[in-house]
Amino acid sequence: MTFDRSIKIAPSILAADFANFGAECRAIEAEGADWVHVDVMDGHFVPNITFGPATCAAIRPHIKGIMDVHLMISPVDAYIEAFAKAGSDIITAHVEAGPHIHRTLQAIRGAGAKAGVAINPGTPASAVADLMDAVDLICVMTVNPGFGGQKFLDLSAKIRTLRMMIGDRPIHIEIDGGIDPSTAPIVAAAGADVLVAGSAVFRGGSVSNPGPYGVNIRAIRAAAQ
Ligand code: DX5
Ligand code: ZN
Repeated sequence: MTFDRSIKIAPSILAADFANFGAECRAIEAEGADWVHVDVMDGHFVPNITFGPATCAAIRPHIKGIMDVHLMISPVDAYIEAFAKAGSDIITAHVEAGPHIHRTLQAIRGAGAKAGVAINPGTPASAVADLMDAVDLICVMTVNPGFGGQKFLDLSAKIRTLRMMIGDRPIHIEIDGGIDPSTAPIVAAAGADVLVAGSAVFRGGSVSNPGPYGVNIRAIRAAAQ
């Protein structure tokens, strides 16, 4: 099967109702989400705390498609097994989270998940140059990680550089932070294929009124295409 570089929308449940994750995951998938993006924060690597592997395991049965777990934690390695056992399809670790990102990526694949590497806005594309054979996804942060609803940073030049570095390799470029219908076309044109969106997907809707989720997802996808 050829590698799927078409646009995929990955709503971040950071913007969902935390008391209702199961229903929120079912709602966004029913409304057209391609992947479900799960933001794990430790209050150490980033200045916010969300949840850990137990919550990932609890929401897993409510997700039919890809559970895309973004670890904003340091250290990472001791927790990989737990996030893999929780049913993560993709586990993404930050290159800034420790001195041994290559070992971390090997451990993720060794645990049976796809391996992603994320880079903060201040980290250059060159930081992942020697990881191309160790990753399935590169996540370019277009905000400083920690919170939803922040202003998009236009890092198109970095995205374009990564797209060239990837060449024909089966590696996704995911963009995380400030994606909405006005910013999606910028990153898609630069070469991104996975668009994470929190506030721009969940705004205006709820589990009892999920229609706006679909409207929002379709607006982002249409803008990107
Ligand atoms: C930021 C998280 C993002 C965030 C995106 O640290 O990694 O996934 O939820 O939220 P929006 O789309 O609101 O910028
Ligand atoms: Zn994220």
